[in-house]
Amino acid sequence: MSHIALQCSECAAKHTADMATLHCSECGGALDVAYNSRTQDRHSATMPNPLHSPDDAVTLGEGGAPAVSLRNLGGHLGVQRLYAKLESMNPTGSFKDRGTAVMMSVAKELGVSEVVEDSSGNAGASVAAYAARAGIRAHIFAPASAPAAKLGQIAVYGAATHLIDGDRQAVTDAAIDFAARNALVYASHNLSPYFIEGTKTFAYEIVERFGANLPRNIVIPVGNGSLFIGAHRGFSELRRVGRVSDIPRLHAAQARAVMPIAAAFEGARKPATSAGGTVAGGIAVANPPRMRQALRVLRDTGGSAVAVDESDILRWHSLLAEREGIFVEPTSAAAFAGVEALVKNGVIRRSESVLVAATGFGLKDAIPQRI
Ligand SMILES: Cc1ncc(COP(=O)(O)O)c(C=O)c1O
Ligand SMILES: [Zn+2]
Repeated sequence: MSHIALQCSECAAKHTADMATLHCSECGGALDVAYNSRTQDRHSATMPNPLHSPDDAVTLGEGGAPAVSLRNLGGHLGVQRLYAKLESMNPTGSFKDRGTAVMMSVAKELGVSEVVEDSSGNAGASVAAYAARAGIRAHIFAPASAPAAKLGQIAVYGAATHLIDGDRQAVTDAAIDFAARNALVYASHNLSPYFIEGTKTFAYEIVERFGANLPRNIVIPVGNGSLFIGAHRGFSELRRVGRVSDIPRLHAAQARAVMPIAAAFEGARKPATSAGGTVAGGIAVANPPRMRQALRVLRDTGGSAVAVDESDILRWHSLLAEREGIFVEPTSAAAFAGVEALVKNGVIRRSESVLVAATGFGLKDAIPQRI
């Protein structure tokens, strides 16, 4: 991996690229991939890739999710151009496959034979699938309360599932402890620089699809921010090489029950979490390790972080299915509730275009009382 290094997102210190280093040795910051020389990917002359031999990539055909126009709900909001990018059409049903494909390709290239991952469900299912394809053994740590469909999906790929009682942080702690005790690679999608590198293709595809007429606003449901931060990296790269002049405003949607990024963005002394929990399990992350990076993306692009109520998440979950035929999981519906809030408070003007990441498929997290 000599063509890349891992660079600290906070102090810019460089580290050797491997699978074991997840934090800066100088300041503890999260790491990003830095290219020592500009490499070229077979898809595009502007697309640096952490792999030495992209032809050996572990892939299931991820990416290429269509961006469809939502005329009915655009009319409902009074927004003329509203789009959903259907990330639920990825091979395991969520955007995570973009990041997993690169992370597991690097793992294979480095000869890793066994990985540990913790997840609210979707990243676990994604890692389990790509690990199966790569011939790598996967240990997936997930909350015992995770949706049954996600747990079933993890199991069907043959991963070892470790169910943990307690909150999301308890799951992370258990995974780190297990990896350390067994001297295994902790392939954390929350921290892995390679995972973030994979999610950049979300931005590349938007530029390919919309050209000079990019959506003015992009709204993403954010927990750890892997899609949010990766999208920004993708747009920034394309700006650096002159493919785009302006980057869309990137807005983060969170559930009011777990809103560390929205609380920090508002700068208020609001509690970042509240009792009661959320149906948006994918974004219920109380201490995102890349929080400072996510806040910089907001500042850099003129985006906002918005917190939405449970009733609004559920209402948009239904509206999407009933008015547009789009069945997403509640976590994804939070981003659409976020659009409504941002339009209401005037951050997004009705004359502006909006694209929403429909991040995960509905059958993964069915709401029991509605079935
Ligand atoms: C469907 C869905 N959307 C959004 C997210 C948030 O992704 P991130 O934690 O990388 O911000 C997740 C994470 O699990 C998810 O499963
Ligand atoms: Zn550092």
